[in-house]
Amino acid sequence: MEPRDIDGDLTEILIEEEQIHGRLAELCRRIEADYAGKDLLLVGVLKGAVMVMADLARELKHPIAMDWMAVSSYGSGTQSSGVVRILKDLDTDLHGRNVLIVEDIIDSGLTLSWLIANLKSRQPESVEICALLRKPDAARVDIDVKYLGFDIPNQFVVGYGLDYAEKYRNLRSVAVLAPHIYS
Ligand code: XMP
Ligand code: MG
Repeated sequence: MEPRDIDGDLTEILIEEEQIHGRLAELCRRIEADYAGKDLLLVGVLKGAVMVMADLARELKHPIAMDWMAVSSYGSGTQSSGVVRILKDLDTDLHGRNVLIVEDIIDSGLTLSWLIANLKSRQPESVEICALLRKPDAARVDIDVKYLGFDIPNQFVVGYGLDYAEKYRNLRSVAVLAPHIYS
């Protein structure tokens, strides 16, 4: 799916597919060095992180395990509330594991800060964050992201796993959604 086919839904392409892949490769070299000789469990947050998880995992020259969680932030439309509910929990016991949370985007940071606390309570060896995107101007809590793809402006974005009302996830790039679509 390319932006020209979407016809007015998107205002601009923010990050091209090639830029995403280039940046993920850089992050993977750092992850490989940091976890050399260690086990590594990637925890993807459904559904938005599916694309970044797939590309990150295949770029890594490191034996990994993968697991998934689905959470929902109560709240409507394009705003996170920070009240989080687990829709699907991990299948994996985290005791003694090195966990790398793989996220699509950090907006207010409320969802992730809840998730970090939740996973840390399960006695893992370590918990770190890899996020493709972050909106610094939207931050409401401070999150220490060890592996970050890109900082972006405080606009609603879609593509590369990110949706609006379940649409646009299969767009290969990250694009800005036209405000008339959601307002
Ligand atoms: P918070 O505010 O808790 O939000 O950091 C995290 C989750 O909200 C979703 N989100 C977005 N989804 N475009 C999207 O498609 C966006 O610009 C956007 N901002 C936040 C996303 O699910 C993220 O994990
Ligand atoms: Mg998400």
